[in-house]
Amino acid sequence: MKALIWCAPYKVKVEDVPEPKIINKRDAIIRVTSTCICGSDLHLVDGFIPFMKPGDILGHEPMGIVEEVGPDVDKSKVNVGDRVVVPFHISCGECFFCQRQMYSCCDNTNTKPYIGETLLGQATAGILGYSHLTGGYAGGQAQFLRVPLADFNCQKMPQEFEDEKLVFLSDIYPTGYMAIQHCNPQPDDTVAIWGCGPVGQFAIRSAFLLGAAQVVAIDDEQKVPERMQMARDAGAITIDMHDEYVYDRLLDLTGGLGPDICVDAVGMEAHGYTMLETIYDKVKTNLFMETERPHAVRQALMCCRKGGTVSIAGVYGGLSDKIPMGALMNKALTIKTGQTHVHRYVPELLETIRQGRIDPSFVVTHRMPLSEAPHAYNIFREKSDGCIKVVLDPAA
Ligand SMILES: NC(=O)c1ccc[n+]([C@@H]2O[C@H](COP(=O)([O-])OP(=O)(O)OC[C@H]3O[C@@H](n4cnc5c(N)ncnc54)[C@H](O)[C@@H]3O)[C@@H](O)[C@H]2O)c1
Ligand SMILES: [Zn+2]
Ligand SMILES: [Zn+2]
Repeated sequence: MKALIWCAPYKVKVEDVPEPKIINKRDAIIRVTSTCICGSDLHLVDGFIPFMKPGDILGHEPMGIVEEVGPDVDKSKVNVGDRVVVPFHISCGECFFCQRQMYSCCDNTNTKPYIGETLLGQATAGILGYSHLTGGYAGGQAQFLRVPLADFNCQKMPQEFEDEKLVFLSDIYPTGYMAIQHCNPQPDDTVAIWGCGPVGQFAIRSAFLLGAAQVVAIDDEQKVPERMQMARDAGAITIDMHDEYVYDRLLDLTGGLGPDICVDAVGMEAHGYTMLETIYDKVKTNLFMETERPHAVRQALMCCRKGGTVSIAGVYGGLSDKIPMGALMNKALTIKTGQTHVHRYVPELLETIRQGRIDPSFVVTHRMPLSEAPHAYNIFREKSDGCIKVVLDPAA
C-alpha cells in the first residue's frame, strides 16, 4: 500500500510499504477514505519531537471503512463495513484514567519500557503516527490502518454526511471544543485565542457554541490573512500580532480586566512578538538548551484576567524557558491543558453536526491525493496557497 513516511527532519515521502495485519485479537484494519495533516505533524517533521525513526508512517486524523476485524472484537460495537472515525489517541476504555474519561492519559496503550520517563514522568496514551514517545504506532496517512482495541477506538459514523464533515471528530474539532469546555465558560465571558490555525478555528466556533459573549483571535495578518478572515467570518474580533500590541488591545476589549479564558492554539513552534524574545528562544532551541518556543503561553499568562483560566491546547514536548510563574501565581490563574480526550466528546459533537449547528468542513482549503502529501506538508507548513487544512485522499 501507499503511505506517507518520515525520513528525516523536513523530509517525508510517499512509499510502497506492507499492508497492516491483525496482530492482536481486538485489532481492526481500516481502509482509509480521508486523512488529514495536523499542526502536530509539523512538530514531528520539523524535528521538535526527536523520537521519530526513518520509515515511520505519519498521520493521526483518519476515517475510513472497516475491512477486517480480529476474533475478539465486539461486533455489536464495530464490524466489517462500518464507516468509522479513529481518534488520534488509542485508549483501552477500562483503566483508572479511561474510567475517569481522561482517555488521552490511558495507561494501557503506550507500553513499557517508556522512553519518555525522564522528560514527562509517566507515559500517556499511545497515539497513531506520533513517534516512539507515544508508542511508535503506524499512522493513518496511508491506504490502510491497523486500529488496536478497535471496539473502543473506532467511532461509528452515520452514512448521510460526507467525510469532510466527520473526519475532524478524530482530533481538531474535539480539541478546539475541549480547549473551551474544560474552562467552564460563562455567558458573559471573553475568550481570547492565540493561533488561527485549524485548532484555533474550532476553538473560536466552540467558544460561540458554548455561549461566550466575545471571542478575540490573535495571529499574523500579513502571513495568514485567510486564517484571520476565517476567524472574522465566525464572528471573532481579530488582533494582528504583527502590527498591534496584543496586551493593550485585549485589555481595551475587556474594560481593562483581561480575557476570562485565554487559549494557546499555537504550540511549541510559536513566533515571537519582540526581537529580544525571538532571539532568546532561537538561540536556546538551537543549542538544545530549550526544547520549544512558548511565546503564546507566556503572553496568555500575562494577558489573562485575575482568577481567569489559561487553556493550553498547543502541543509542548519538553522544557520551556521563561514562563511567567509570577503572573500565574499572583493573579490566581488556573491552567487547563492536555492531549484531547477525544472519545469523550465524539457523541455530543456528532450531535452538533447532525443538528446543523456547525459544518466542520468549513476549514478545508485543500483536498489532495495521498501521493501529493509531501507538497501538502510544504504548503501547510509555509501557510502558502491559502492553506489552512488539507484532507488527503488515499484512493485518488
Ligand atoms: N491538545 C491536543 O490534543 C492537540 C490536538 C491537535 C493539535 N494540537 C496542537 O495545536 C497547535 C495548533 O495546531 P494547528 O493544526 O492549528 O497548527 P497551525 O500550525 O496550522 O496553526 C498555528 C497558528 O499559530 C500562529 N502563530 C504562530 N505564532 C503565534 C503567536 N505567537 N501568536 C499567535 N499566533 C501565532 C501561526 O501563524 C498559525 O496560523 C499545535 O501545537 C498542535 O500540535 C493539540
Ligand atoms: Zn492532530
Ligand atoms: Zn485506558
